[in-house]
Amino acid sequence: MSTDSDLIVEVDELRKTYTQDGKDLEVLKGVTLRIEKGEMLSIVGKSGAGKSTLLHLIGTLDQPSSGRLKLNGKQTLGMTGAELALLRNELIGFVFQFHHLLPEFTAIENVMMPGVIRGLPRSALEATAKELLERVNLGHRATHRPSEMSGGEQQRVALARALSMRPKLLLADEPTGNLDTENSAHMNELFTKLNRDLGTTMVIVTHNERLADQMPRVITMKDGKVEKDERKRPAIYRADEEALARDAARADAAAKAPVIEPSIDEPEKPSEASEEQP
Ligand SMILES: Nc1ncnc2c1ncn2[C@@H]1O[C@H](COP(=O)(O)OP(=O)(O)O)[C@@H](O)[C@H]1O
Ligand SMILES: [Mg+2]
Repeated sequence: MSTDSDLIVEVDELRKTYTQDGKDLEVLKGVTLRIEKGEMLSIVGKSGAGKSTLLHLIGTLDQPSSGRLKLNGKQTLGMTGAELALLRNELIGFVFQFHHLLPEFTAIENVMMPGVIRGLPRSALEATAKELLERVNLGHRATHRPSEMSGGEQQRVALARALSMRPKLLLADEPTGNLDTENSAHMNELFTKLNRDLGTTMVIVTHNERLADQMPRVITMKDGKVEKDERKRPAIYRADEEALARDAARADAAAKAPVIEPSIDEPEKPSEASEEQP
């Protein structure tokens, strides 16, 4: 059972209506879902199902027509634009289908940019950017400009940039939509690795069946609603966390364990010792 403090996204009855040519078009028809800290999931569904709209609403890039959205326990309803911007800056990284890198800057400068804009010290930003470029296997491309990199490399720089402020939540909209099979597979591996290593919650809208297949949780949208919400296996990061906690408990127990002496109830029987192994 998850408690409220385990949740990073709480969406309740979210609706979105666009008005076009005087007509109302309801594209989200009451979406409710919970996402736990450290989860990795994909949102799939046909074009026009409302996936991007939902992702934009979760990212507070757009406002719902009705419904509620809590991010990291904070109710976003009623927040001012400035408050939302602050929350976004602290909490969320975005990756879109097209990378939107700045062409006149190098890979490392692009990754540092969110921090530069915030006026953070350059040396720290540079160290983080370097580390992130290595994490996305681009340590050797740090001084290349976007035009000097392949599409897959550019998208990996965009991923490093999205993670540069260490967001708790990464929102990606068709991040492999513009890549060939090989580069898509590479991005998929990176999402899994980064989710595990950094503990970043990842919500990935995708058409890529292989990517969706690898996700612990898949939400299928249809006509502005959640049609299916399948959990295939426990979220990776939480599983890892539990394993770490178990290891720590085991080490702790071992350190505190008394010297083993033959028990009184079960006198030592050396001949049977090997049979105790599972
Ligand atoms: N700004 C907008 N104005 C009017 N209609 C929009 C707007 N954005 C999206 N839509 C419509 O909302 C529906 C859902 O779009 P979207 O969320 O982009 O779907 P998906 O990402 O699943 O393909 C589509 O029918 C689309 O045409
Ligand atoms: Mg879309």
